[in-house]
Amino acid sequence: MPDRYAVFGNPIAHSKSPRIHALFAAQTRQDMRYDAILAPLDDFATAINQFVAAGGRGANVTVPFKEEAFKLATTLTPRAQAAGAVNTLSFHEGTISGDNTDGAGLVRDLKANLGFDLAARRILLLGAGGAARGIILPLLEEHPATLIIANRTAAKAKELAAAFGIAGGGFEALAGQAFDVVINATSAGLSDAVLPVPTFAFAPGCLAYEMVYGRETPFMQQARAAGCRVADGLGMLVEQAAEAFYAWRGVRPESGPVLAALR
Ligand code: ATR
Repeated sequence: MPDRYAVFGNPIAHSKSPRIHALFAAQTRQDMRYDAILAPLDDFATAINQFVAAGGRGANVTVPFKEEAFKLATTLTPRAQAAGAVNTLSFHEGTISGDNTDGAGLVRDLKANLGFDLAARRILLLGAGGAARGIILPLLEEHPATLIIANRTAAKAKELAAAFGIAGGGFEALAGQAFDVVINATSAGLSDAVLPVPTFAFAPGCLAYEMVYGRETPFMQQARAAGCRVADGLGMLVEQAAEAFYAWRGVRPESGPVLAALR
């Protein structure tokens, strides 16, 4: 019997995680099975408990259950604690360990795939929701020169920034500042909404990172027009999966060929 894993979300039908983990498993010769499971919006915990009872070893968690997974976990890694959300669960003898590999996946995509080192760089993070919160600690661990949060609702940016001892506010508070990396962690791109990022925020030679993947968002167009190199979030998706795979199996898959296959 292969070891069982799954991704839980709602909706889940279009998740790329089963394909990514199947490619990782084939590449590293791991005997495992990875499914996509649609959890009911009002009963995530039961879906997880049923999976554990059926012998599940680990799970990925996606929208909208990451905060619930955080609450369900009996132990948390420091990066999950900082994120306030969990995307990776491991089940072992009645314990549920919660981790969050999203930020590590982003950092790895930036450094290993895009060749962009974050040390001493000026980083602008757009958004103050769960996606933004999930990546702040791993970004700070790269020792950037600055990390500033800008959000439509300034109060949310201020509150989130304060929790990490950094600066944050509305887009208007960016007055004259330029950044080497601009990361879009808002969900604006999903509805093709344009963000009020001032053009001066994109420093010459900057990298613009859109966490959404599979579409050309207004943020990507805006950053391109400002002369930035632009990346979407597909690399982060593959790298957060690689981190989860490593946490479960103790083997680090090669992400490059998998990213190429998905592209
Ligand atoms: P997620 O888990 O994806 O982070 P979320 O917690 O609902 O989802 O956060 C969504 C983020 O995208 C927020 O920062 C939100 O800004 P507000 O805090 O002002 O709501 C941002 N966002 C979503 N749509 C946006 C839009 N059209 N323009 C600007 N920001 C937007």
